[in-house]
Amino acid sequence: MSDPIILLLSGPNLNLLGERQPEIYGRTTLPELVEIARGAAAERGFALEHLQSNHEGDLVEAVHGARGRADAVVVNAGALTHYGWSLHDALAAYDGVIVELHLSNPVSREAWRSTSVISPLAHGVVAGFGPAGYPLAVGATIGLVEGRRRADRA
Ligand code: DQA
Repeated sequence: MSDPIILLLSGPNLNLLGERQPEIYGRTTLPELVEIARGAAAERGFALEHLQSNHEGDLVEAVHGARGRADAVVVNAGALTHYGWSLHDALAAYDGVIVELHLSNPVSREAWRSTSVISPLAHGVVAGFGPAGYPLAVGATIGLVEGRRRADRA
């Protein structure tokens, strides 16, 4: 049987990580974060796919493609977190585990970042731990997927 799949999604501007506002987001690049996340997944027998896009529709289509195929979606939607209703609706039509991920803690920043259209659908949220949040989110996501599998078997 093939490895279970986690789909990691990165929204707008996350391709600039490492250069973009390093005082907030740190100096780790997105390819480095993906490698860290992939390593954490591989240690537990999970495959990790990744898509970064600056376009909401690409992320919507990636969620459609995850339906019935990927066990979990871990999503750092960037600013789409706060107003991306079509991404919200795509995730609402996805039946796997959903984990919301942020490098910073949006709620501690500008008021408009306190709204998340993803949180109401998320089984868990990891925010404010910088790059360390990526392996944390992967580990927590795998815990949720395995819990579901045990419940399905019981
Ligand atoms: C972010 C937080 C968002 O508010 C912001 O728009 C981002 C990055 C984070 O990872 O901290 O682009 O999702």
